[in-house]
Amino acid sequence: MPVITEIDDLRRLFRRRVPRMFYDYAESGSWTEQTFRENTADFDLLRLRQRVAVDMEGRNLATTMAGQEVAMPVALAPVGLTGMQSADGEIKAARAAEAFGVPFTLSTMSICSIEDVAEHTDKPFWFQLYVMRDEDFLRRIIERARAAKCSALVLTLDLQILGQRHRDLKNGLSAPPKLTLPVMLDLATKWGWGREMLGTKRRFFGNIVGHAKDVGDAASLMAWTAEQFDPRLDWDKVRRIKEMWGGTLILKGILDAEDARMAAEVGADALVVSNHGGRQLDGALSSIRVLPSIVAAVGDRIEVHMDGGIRSGQDVLKALALGARGTWIGRAWVYGLGALGQAGVTTALELIRKELDTTMALCGRKDVRDLDRDVLLIPPAFWDYLPDPRPEPERRNAS
Ligand SMILES: Cc1cc2nc3c(=O)[nH]c(=O)nc-3n(C[C@H](O)[C@H](O)[C@H](O)COP(=O)(O)O)c2cc1C
Repeated sequence: MPVITEIDDLRRLFRRRVPRMFYDYAESGSWTEQTFRENTADFDLLRLRQRVAVDMEGRNLATTMAGQEVAMPVALAPVGLTGMQSADGEIKAARAAEAFGVPFTLSTMSICSIEDVAEHTDKPFWFQLYVMRDEDFLRRIIERARAAKCSALVLTLDLQILGQRHRDLKNGLSAPPKLTLPVMLDLATKWGWGREMLGTKRRFFGNIVGHAKDVGDAASLMAWTAEQFDPRLDWDKVRRIKEMWGGTLILKGILDAEDARMAAEVGADALVVSNHGGRQLDGALSSIRVLPSIVAAVGDRIEVHMDGGIRSGQDVLKALALGARGTWIGRAWVYGLGALGQAGVTTALELIRKELDTTMALCGRKDVRDLDRDVLLIPPAFWDYLPDPRPEPERRNAS
């Protein structure tokens, strides 16, 4: 077993253990992958101010996200098909998050169902909703999330139609995988994964099969999902869903200040600045570059979170310093899951906690709730596309 000291160690292990089609599914962005790459690369533009001779005892990482207490401001973002990265993957990840004290978000496109996850956890988790054309399915899945005592509904707004990821098409991505010759040759080297998968019944989209009309097997499932994402989703429908749900609502996939104002206006509890991990609109800006403009537009009216490109606790600190109240990780926890199952998700969270805590201390700060831009050194190039939204006197005082 290699010594794991950073998230990228988990990615390398994940790559060795999981069939190529599922590794590629996680580790890709749409079209040229520019946005996918910049989500991580743009964090490197931001540098940190080292401060010394500050009493560092009694540091605190705990805070709240969308009204929920969290051990650190890092939620597990919804990721589809994680039950294919590791058998019963969503249950494993939810348990790791619960033990750690951070929120787990179950995707609509999960392998384990809402009921499966609820049955195997003790605390409420969050449920992510994709809006489908089938109104009956929509109403029932919201009811199912309520019955499972999910404590927030995360409504994803940036996937009315699917961005193209070349590798998924070339690999013939499906759950479970179709046993073509290249797939079988690949599986021959991933026997640990195969053995685990044979030991579980959960190999289809658990929230859909048996719940959507006429979807009972893999073929009908593929046809159903392909035509179901609702391209008509608009702010009126967002308002209706808010009423149908009646609880904490988080809007995910906001990347523009105008849309952020709408999110605040409909009365959502939080929004997530996100470009779906660079998997939807290739050419869109990275989340970290957009974040300050959205905090400036609505930060006093709605909680602003962000995701996209977070691979370390340092990235978390940078996002908090630019005004995010909380951050979400996608691939970072999926690498851990694919590498080592539940223990791998815990390891990912521990790595991030350690990096966040150490970085905060070396920047001379003791509490995640008090981080601000003063801990950062930001080059002019960072503001190339969206200029610093703060008024001039404020900017001058800070520099
Ligand atoms: C493999 C994969 C599947 C995803 N599936 C979903 C999903 O089902 N629902 C959703 O709202 N977002 C989904 N996302 C987006 C994540 O929730 C999150 O926005 C993104 O992963 C953040 O970027 P990061 O992976 O760089 O942390 C997915 C992301 C990945 C990588």
